[in-house]
Amino acid sequence: MDLFEKCMTYTRAEEAQNSGLYPYFTEIQDVDGNHVWVDGKKILMVGSNNYLGLFDNERVKTAVIEAVRKYGSSTCGSRFLNGTYTLHVELEKRIAQFMQKEEALCFSTGMQTNLGVISALAGRNDVILIDRMVHASIVDGTRLSFADVVKYRHNDMQDLEDKLKRLPEDKGRLIIVDGVFSMEGDLANVPELVRLKKKYNARLMVDDAHSVGIMGRNGRGTAEHFNLLDDVDLVMTTFSKAFASLGGYVVGDSKVIQYIRHHSRALIFSASITPASLAAAGEALDIIQTEPWRRERLWQISETMNRELTAMGYHTGNTETPIIPVFIHDEDKTFKLWYFLRNFGIFTNPVIAPAVPPEDALIRTSFTATHTDEDLEFILRGFYEGGKAIGII
Ligand SMILES: Cc1ncc(COP(=O)(O)O)c(C=O)c1O
Repeated sequence: MDLFEKCMTYTRAEEAQNSGLYPYFTEIQDVDGNHVWVDGKKILMVGSNNYLGLFDNERVKTAVIEAVRKYGSSTCGSRFLNGTYTLHVELEKRIAQFMQKEEALCFSTGMQTNLGVISALAGRNDVILIDRMVHASIVDGTRLSFADVVKYRHNDMQDLEDKLKRLPEDKGRLIIVDGVFSMEGDLANVPELVRLKKKYNARLMVDDAHSVGIMGRNGRGTAEHFNLLDDVDLVMTTFSKAFASLGGYVVGDSKVIQYIRHHSRALIFSASITPASLAAAGEALDIIQTEPWRRERLWQISETMNRELTAMGYHTGNTETPIIPVFIHDEDKTFKLWYFLRNFGIFTNPVIAPAVPPEDALIRTSFTATHTDEDLEFILRGFYEGGKAIGII
């Protein structure tokens, strides 16, 4: 049996490409603020995670250029041996202070943060409990860990409690959730998670990839939103969304971070964050702390768009964030609406099984603090005309 047999007979992507209804790996030819060029046509981006509009911010770009001039393009080494620069150490100190935790540790991506933290902390004698809808990087982290994995129904705290009750006393327990669930924009029930972790002697880790910089009075994420930062043991996030960079971090107690630092294979055996990415994240952190108007504008946009799309007849589920899922409940119509919107001049992301159950097929929209009122009107017009043309609303 040839290992490549499955590749030779794999035609699904090609068929979708030939039909014109292939939404993945879209080639973006040029970028200008919230507009991108695809197939030579200018379209409005409503599908990125550039929540605060910082990827082309002048301060961020200047910081990146200066860092490259001073330190070059790469560290060419891992944090462990030869890739720890003052830039890494200083940014980690600033992050820990911002997040009001003892220590921070940066990884080269958010994915690696989850892989590295989870597999370092949980082992054969432990149990990891995860919400069914957590991000793939958490699932993969659990697979690398050798720990037993227990999944509970999405945001179902009774199901989690039932599962916690049944665990043997002698096993370490780690509960991991997305603070904001990335496809549907709903929040983890952090107050109840904190109650349960205390009752059942577990530790709690929150993936705040979609909420640091956005949620909470100071942008510290969902734990701050619920006023429970002290009670969440570990918060991780990515630099690839609100921070408009590349990388990730975890924050927690010093002893725990020190352990992760010396046991995390994703950290030790991979090159450290580049000077450019560190500089972008550092400048973005400063902007997050000093320009709260970006968060406020983002919230105003999110509320308006959720309200208007709902009024139009669309279902937007339980979102409480700038991620607004427009549920179509039918994969064929989801692709048709996505295609209509693309031709109309709007870039969105269709989400189908296995990312969500087939009956939950949706168009994922995500908003940016720098979307203008005209942009919002244009998006609403596209959804209205597309929804009518396809018979969704
Ligand atoms: C919830 C969540 N966690 C982790 C990640 C991984 O982050 P990164 O893109 O930095 O690898 C993402 C990004 O897609 C995410 O949405």
